[in-house]
Amino acid sequence: MTVESVRSAAHQAAELSTPPLAGGGVPGLGHGLKLVRDPLGFLSRLRDQGEVVRLKLGPKTVYAVTTPALTGELALSPDFKIDGPLWESLEGLLGKEGVATANGSRHRRQRRTIQPAFRLDAIPGYGPIMEEEAHALAERWRPGETIDCTAESFRVAVRIAARCLLRGDFMDERAERLSIALATVFRGMYRRMVVPAGPLYRLPLPANRKFDRALADLHLLVDEIVAERRASGQKPDDLLTALLEAKDENGEPIGEQEIHDQVVAILTPGSETVASTIMWLLQVLAEHPEQADRVREEVESVTEGRPVAFADVRKLSHTNNVVVEAMRLRPAVWILTRRAVTETALGGYRIPAGADIVYSPYAIQRDARSYGGHLEFDPDRWLPERAKDVPKYAMSPFSVGNRKCPSDHFSMAQLGLITAAVTSRWRLEQVSESNDTTRVGITLRPHRLLLRAVPR
Ligand code: HEM
Repeated sequence: MTVESVRSAAHQAAELSTPPLAGGGVPGLGHGLKLVRDPLGFLSRLRDQGEVVRLKLGPKTVYAVTTPALTGELALSPDFKIDGPLWESLEGLLGKEGVATANGSRHRRQRRTIQPAFRLDAIPGYGPIMEEEAHALAERWRPGETIDCTAESFRVAVRIAARCLLRGDFMDERAERLSIALATVFRGMYRRMVVPAGPLYRLPLPANRKFDRALADLHLLVDEIVAERRASGQKPDDLLTALLEAKDENGEPIGEQEIHDQVVAILTPGSETVASTIMWLLQVLAEHPEQADRVREEVESVTEGRPVAFADVRKLSHTNNVVVEAMRLRPAVWILTRRAVTETALGGYRIPAGADIVYSPYAIQRDARSYGGHLEFDPDRWLPERAKDVPKYAMSPFSVGNRKCPSDHFSMAQLGLITAAVTSRWRLEQVSESNDTTRVGITLRPHRLLLRAVPR
């Protein structure tokens, strides 16, 4: 791109109109309250107001993109980088030097460091651990027992991430601590993001203290994991070794802070997203016993009665469609943000340099304009002959472009395996104290999913 063409793009953008302001704002607060009270409903209705609309969060203007095509454009265009309200709050709390919040050459270098651990051909190496953990999850339960799905889902997600990527042993106590810390931190972070009232969060209130303690424990846990590996003197071929041995742009070893932030940046998205998705999968299996039966039949037809193995997962097409459909209706990552690095255009509207842009995979993946029976749980919509009608970018739960989740294959493999292992053994039923309504935080998950496990 020449300087002239950049100038002319900026000039063209300057001539475009400003997107419409979303309705329902409150003077002074803008749309912040709506985003706290009913974020999913609010974001889902924005498409009726335009393909790009303006929101007010206090004094700040934020742009929301509401069509699949524009979310693809946003994710793929070099005019936008990772930044904005979501990332600022993540950086302030989780660290500034990890891959999830870096940009430019540091980000490219960090992706190169972590990518080998997630490559398609690296995933079978994790197969035995994923199998062990998926079966251990299903075998822990007792007939008629009430299962606390939040704890169980976190436990298996953290154990798989830590054992596969960090080769962590003795993870039970840590998985428990990590799960508690992350649940508290992510809930608090969401509030801090949509109601940016800095001083309020420094008051010595019980909720703030709990949040600060959870955050401190998260960082302590990561320090423990790094220190333990260093003390062991071992260098297994894993992601932690890659991080500890990584060099910066000048060929120098990367600093301690970057190593720490990198482990945080892998562990936190790695456990919260997968755990939330497992909770929704368990909820779906309980709510749609006919789908659970189909999964079980498919697993049996492939395994002929032996325990399901990692290598079976790619043959389990219906099981995988159940996973994808659960992720469509309840995407763990339900909101994403970018910042414009230059004045630019989106959907024919002018986007000023420095503007924050948000979009919601939840709203996009439930849009009636993209999906017939948009609110129905219908795994067969992912059969090849029907899936071809789904508009481009209408189902991108791992995003696209240079920030695409590195862990798409890693995540899908474990989710398929867990679904198959649990369903082969158990029929699941919700108990009366269970609350499967959607709890909105940094990820979406059920408020408190409690299931009874009935042997097959
Ligand atoms: C980034 C979704 C599991 C590590 C992302 C992004 C999405 C996503 C949508 C892109 C964010 C953006 O565009 O702004 C998911 C979902 C998961 C999952 C739905 C599971 C169901 C994991 C796991 C790990 C992981 C298991 C690690 C073990 C990361 C990292 C990034 C990322 C490091 C940042 C990438 C970058 O900025 O270059 N994830 N993720 N994710 N995810 Fe995942």
